[in-house]
Amino acid sequence: MADHPSGNRSEGEPREEWRTRWGFLFAAVGSAVGLGNMWRFSYLAAEKGGAGFVALYLLFTILLGLPVMLAELTIGRGARRGPISALAHYGGQGWRWLGAIFVAAGFLILSYYGVIGGWTLRYAVEAATIGFAPDAGAHFGDVASGFDSLGTQILFMIITIAVVSGGIGAGIERLARIAMPGLFLIMIGIALYAATLEGASDGYAYYLNFDLEKALAIDVVVAAAGQAFFSLSLGMGAILTFASYLPRDSDVARETAVISFADFGVAFVAGLMVFPLIFALGMQGEISGGTIGALFVALPKAFESMGGAGRIVGGAFFVALVVGALTSAISLLEVIVSAAMDAFGWERRRAALVGGVAVTLAGVWPAFRIDILDLADSVATNLFLVGGGLGIAIFVGWVMDDPIAEASVGSARSGVHTVWRILLRYVVPITLIFILWNSLPETWAKIVGVFGSG
Ligand code: PFF
Repeated sequence: MADHPSGNRSEGEPREEWRTRWGFLFAAVGSAVGLGNMWRFSYLAAEKGGAGFVALYLLFTILLGLPVMLAELTIGRGARRGPISALAHYGGQGWRWLGAIFVAAGFLILSYYGVIGGWTLRYAVEAATIGFAPDAGAHFGDVASGFDSLGTQILFMIITIAVVSGGIGAGIERLARIAMPGLFLIMIGIALYAATLEGASDGYAYYLNFDLEKALAIDVVVAAAGQAFFSLSLGMGAILTFASYLPRDSDVARETAVISFADFGVAFVAGLMVFPLIFALGMQGEISGGTIGALFVALPKAFESMGGAGRIVGGAFFVALVVGALTSAISLLEVIVSAAMDAFGWERRRAALVGGVAVTLAGVWPAFRIDILDLADSVATNLFLVGGGLGIAIFVGWVMDDPIAEASVGSARSGVHTVWRILLRYVVPITLIFILWNSLPETWAKIVGVFGSG
């Protein structure tokens, strides 16, 4: 892209575009696949009793995720603008607030996502250099608090800002095309390796034995829905923003299916590596509490006890985690960047730097306090993403003129679109209102837990 000494873009500059269809797909799958699939999915599956949670998460991915994903892709591709302007484009100026909430959600999520990204970076580097610490619990305490945590967060954010500054084709797409296939290979390799361990079957049993009673608990339902949105990068305009760089004739219905399937597949495989590893090495006690840091203790402990093989497997694991985290963080920052470019006419690099530094500063708090990180994650997911998904469904289902015509550009009009509209109008909003309502007590309890006692 042209260089602008003023830091501002000139009028009428053509919008950036993905170079290839695959480039877009890797970038969108890169956004979806991240810490959510590996860290968040596994720790929730552990906390919420295993297979019941997994089944509900699959159900919500199909019932809620697919329609909202298609809605975001349709708006983004049609409007060719960042989230705030895109909603104004289809709904009028009165809808800008919803886009602004999306940007705020991106800001909130990236502020703590970058902190965890920093931990993964540190573990990956340590695996390659000094190995896994003998006392995994104490080591995690060092990694995840104070200036250690802040330092790695800053490093992670610098890389994120650099890639986003590079632009859609030369930055984001180029990284995703190399990184994502690498991540898939590593994960499949580790899952196959884990299958050879003695005692792996207990891990599979925990992960895959469905128990209806456990699945029907309301906290499991709420967590599974939030996880579906978090994992698919939905409810805050990230997919919308990536779609705004798509050519007009791309097939958004087909891409919806590819991205969602890939995301679920990676989460599922993540479970196939994490649970056998943990059970085979007797670390299940470490994860039963289901805290945010449990995996960062249990897995390094498992890798450490495996000796030389553990360094290789563990190193590969954390490299995959870094890659997933980075490609997702990029999409979070891109939401902020594209909104700033639209709103202030800034050039990309300025927007990435200003936005990225602001997020990094906001991350100081969660970097120092893991309870704040945990709270930010609950609020962001259960309120912002689920609420944002509700907003999108209502917007496309009820406000936007003829969304079916817009979604059908580039793909054959079919019965799928009719079902889509019914889901967006009725099924998704009603389900999400139910979930939002039921998540409030838990979120409130967390707020009181962090702030109320002091
Ligand atoms: N989907 C990402 C993950 O699973 O790690 C996290 C994420 C990225 C959430 C982008 C929301 C988003 F807009």
